[in-house]
Amino acid sequence: MPITTCIFDAYGTLFDVAAAAREAAAEPGREAFGEHWPRVATDWRLKQLQYTWLRAVAGAHTDFWEVTRNGLDWALENAGLDRDPELRERLLQLYWELSAYPEVPHMLAELKDQGMNTAILSNGSPDMLDGAVRSAGIGALLDDVLSVESVGIFKPAAAVYDLVLKRFNCAPENVLFVSSNGWDAACATGFGFTTAWVNRAGEPIDRLPWTPQLVLNDLTGIPQETHR
Ligand code: LAC
Repeated sequence: MPITTCIFDAYGTLFDVAAAAREAAAEPGREAFGEHWPRVATDWRLKQLQYTWLRAVAGAHTDFWEVTRNGLDWALENAGLDRDPELRERLLQLYWELSAYPEVPHMLAELKDQGMNTAILSNGSPDMLDGAVRSAGIGALLDDVLSVESVGIFKPAAAVYDLVLKRFNCAPENVLFVSSNGWDAACATGFGFTTAWVNRAGEPIDRLPWTPQLVLNDLTGIPQETHR
């Protein structure tokens, strides 16, 4: 069955989640954060994701903004930076204005030229996603922005991936799902989507019951993969 619908994870896939800590470290007066930011960025992301999985399993849903703040607080304390409320506020503010990876606008425009449906499917809350899409200027290239908030559970719950089928009235075989999160791409394969894992960091593959069909270094090749 042909691919008609190209769905993107947001954080880490279209938007560079390390950008908040990297940009804060480059601001005047924050030289001391220069040595800490890579670890803070890594811990922040890891804890944010762990909290989504734990809350999904425990049946204790909250929105992504809450787990984003909780993850940052853990990361700042781990780096001994938990007594700097101004840094915390700045990092949180920057999370609403994350940069998109440079190839994103052109890649989405190519997909629209092919007549593909394009959308985001993300853990992000609708207002966070709205902020990121606006600051990246990619709203006109997306047919929709789907948030887990409409089903009240985080990825990789099947109810989340199912939002795509309902929105675009299509079958799983019609969907190319693209994520930089190996676990997200793997679980979307389990759901029945064709999947592409964008492995920018050259990480090992996740040991899960499913594997992504495609592994790419960045998003440039996505429009070619819709002809499969
Ligand atoms: C998202 C997270 C998983 O955007 O990156 O859903």
